[in-house]
Amino acid sequence: FHRRRRPVRVYMDGCFDMMHYGHCNALRQARALGDQLVVGVVSDDEITANKGPPVTPLNERMVMVGAVKWVDDVIPDAPYAITEDFMNKLFTEYNIDYIIHGDDPCLLPDGTDAYALAKNAGRYKQIKRTEGVSTTDIVGRMLLCVRERSVSDRHNHSSLQRQFSSGHGQKIDDSGSGSGTRISHFLPTSRRIVQFSNSRGPGPDSRIVYIDGAFDLFHAGHVEILRLARGLGDFLLVGIHTDQTISSTRGPHRPIMNLHERSLSVLACRYVDEVIIGAPWDISKDMATH
Ligand code: CTP
Repeated sequence: FHRRRRPVRVYMDGCFDMMHYGHCNALRQARALGDQLVVGVVSDDEITANKGPPVTPLNERMVMVGAVKWVDDVIPDAPYAITEDFMNKLFTEYNIDYIIHGDDPCLLPDGTDAYALAKNAGRYKQIKRTEGVSTTDIVGRMLLCVRERSVSDRHNHSSLQRQFSSGHGQKIDDSGSGSGTRISHFLPTSRRIVQFSNSRGPGPDSRIVYIDGAFDLFHAGHVEILRLARGLGDFLLVGIHTDQTISSTRGPHRPIMNLHERSLSVLACRYVDEVIIGAPWDISKDMATH
């Protein structure tokens, strides 16, 4: 009954350095503004020139963005600021309808808006930035973790801090001591968990695969093991260990990301069907049956 319409294609770009659930939530919202989401990942050189060197290189950032279930296509080496040429390329070669960015100001070193051209062309849409998480905040937590682990070993700490803070504008706060100061500002609501969840459970004859772990600072190695695990069956269930379990097995300064943060990163991964938020360390017969 409906005339077939062309799918609405949206474009979001970014650095996606040390990919976190704030980035995933941005991609989720961007995808909801259209039918297909194309993501441009900014080159290492462009990030270095505009805000200082990234922690993770382009190939890893590409893997992380491509693994997010709301992403349809990934473009490497995207420019930091959308130029006239690049914008026309997006419209003609990639059939992009709208360019999307979070509602935080995105300024170039000269103080101008990186999305001015797209805004003037009437092709810009905005999503809400996720509070309580940023790459700078995560690097701060890592520095604090290194510092707590070995106050005498200043080398790693200062080199990471030096590398990251050059040009990143924000000051990294690692001034606290003791694990109580490493607070996550994320409020895990049931709504957010639902937004990240898949609605479908396993079918009656599904081969269900279970894998468990900490999945702290979700990275390209985690993506690869989840891809392989999913390939072994039809439905992948991921057990995420509690913060207490991880502290008791890997040391008092871990995990860096708390249970809910780790759960959202895993849930955003396209190979994952379901997660257990706080899985037991031992897999009992009862649990396997369940
Ligand atoms: N973003 C978001 N919420 C966050 C962090 C990022 O919505 N907590 C969005 C940004 O607005 C942008 C996209 O994710 O549209 C990619 O962000 P990126 O270029 O990686 O840079 P930052 O905004 O600097 O992210 P961060 O501070 O975490 O480095």
